[in-house]
Amino acid sequence: MHPVPVTESEFNNPGLEVLIPTDKLQARIREIGAEIARDYASRRPQLVCVLKGAMVFMSDLMRAIDMQLTIDFIAVSSYGKGTRTSGEVKIVKDLDEPMEGREIILVEDILDTGLTLNYLTNNFRSRGATSVKIATLLNKPDRRKVEVEVAYKGFDIPDEFVVGYGLDFSERYRNLPYIAVVKNLP
Ligand code: IMP
Ligand code: MG
Repeated sequence: MHPVPVTESEFNNPGLEVLIPTDKLQARIREIGAEIARDYASRRPQLVCVLKGAMVFMSDLMRAIDMQLTIDFIAVSSYGKGTRTSGEVKIVKDLDEPMEGREIILVEDILDTGLTLNYLTNNFRSRGATSVKIATLLNKPDRRKVEVEVAYKGFDIPDEFVVGYGLDFSERYRNLPYIAVVKNLP
C-alpha cells in the first residue's frame, strides 16, 4: 500500500492572492441570473457552457435563473500552439442539441482576446440559432483583439492571469471557490 500523502490546503495556497472572493461571485451571479430571467421572460433559452472553464459559473448561473431553460455543452481548443492569434478554434466536443430556432446564451468563464467567443457566436448563428448572447463571468478589456458584444458580464479584471472557479493554470486550481491571481508565475 502506498502511504497517503499529507495534503496541504489548496484553497489557502500561499502562492495565490484572492482577487474576487466567493461571496462577491455568488452575489453577482444571482444578479445576472435575475436579469436573464427578466430578459427572457416567457421564452426558453438554451445555455451553452464552454468546457471546461465555464462549468462552475454555468452551474451557479443556471440555478439563479428561475425559468424554463435547457443546457448544452461544447469544448473547444485553439489550433496548436502559437496559432491562437489566427482566431482558429477547433471544436473538440460538439453540442448535443440542435440550434435551429433556439435563443442561445453562451456561457464562458473569461473573455480575453475575444477570439473564442467571436468564433462560437458566428458558428452558432450559421447553424440557425435565432439569437446568440454572451454571458461571461470575467472580462479582460485590455486584451481584446476582436470586438465581441457582451450581454451579461460578471466582473472586469486587470490583465493578470487568474485561476479558480473553473479557470486553470495547466489544469490546476479549477476547484478553488474564489478567483485568484497566481503570484510568481513561472
Ligand atoms: P480568448 O478570449 O479567445 O482569448 O480565450 C479565452 C480563453 O482563454 C478562456 O476560455 C480561458 O480558457 C483562457 N484564458 C484567458 N485568460 C485566462 C486567465 O487569466 N486564466 C485562465 N485562463 C485564461
Ligand atoms: Mg476556457
